[in-house]
Amino acid sequence: MPQITVRSAQPDDIPSITHIYAHAVLHGTATFEIEPPDEPEMGRRYRALMEAAYPYLVAEIDSKVAGYAYAGLYRPRYGYRWTVEDSVYIAPELHRRGVGRVLLTRLIEEAEARGFRQMIAIIGDSSQTPSIALHDALGFRHIGKLEAVAFKHDAWRDSILMQRALGRGATTSP
Ligand SMILES: CC(C)(COP(=O)(O)OP(=O)(O)OC[C@H]1O[C@@H](n2cnc3c(N)ncnc32)[C@H](O)[C@@H]1OP(=O)(O)O)[C@@H](O)C(=O)NCCC(=O)NCCS
Repeated sequence: MPQITVRSAQPDDIPSITHIYAHAVLHGTATFEIEPPDEPEMGRRYRALMEAAYPYLVAEIDSKVAGYAYAGLYRPRYGYRWTVEDSVYIAPELHRRGVGRVLLTRLIEEAEARGFRQMIAIIGDSSQTPSIALHDALGFRHIGKLEAVAFKHDAWRDSILMQRALGRGATTSP
């Protein structure tokens, strides 16, 4: 197994992050964006998350960015403030080497340390076996499926919803 290290994302990581995400936008259905965002836009998204103190992590193998993950606000209304949505993207040539598991495990820990109580995964498309299996492996439950809510790569796509309690979950007030 390669040595995987995880650390907070830095502004210098934006080119690598942009590159990894562009592949998912162009070739996958994990995201329903159609045009890959450029580096300035990915930088703006990164800064918005950092300024609001959400966790944004990168994993490295041999000092090269192998993947990234962040947790952001699930929905903007104030009542949702203890619930985050996760995103995790691994460089395609490095899939199935344990990077996603290490990143998402650390992201869960970072979100718990910040006091968040629920993490939601909105998984683009029923055919996303790797993502569904990764979330299953880390304790997410299947919550439901929104059918045919997106159109990408010439087909209607579902969204699979998965959810995991963080820390004390709903057993205590925040
Ligand atoms: C989903 C994704 C992040 C998984 O990352 P990864 O580094 O390849 O996954 P890992 O090697 O850490 O796998 C961890 C576990 O997930 C499951 N898993 C991952 N890929 C799988 C696959 N192709 N088939 C079945 N299970 C898979 C397994 O349970 C695996 O544990 P195991 O290897 O001990 O069996 C990666 O495939 C990816 O970046 N996909 C494109 C973007 C995406 O779908 N992101 C999720 C957005 S919510």
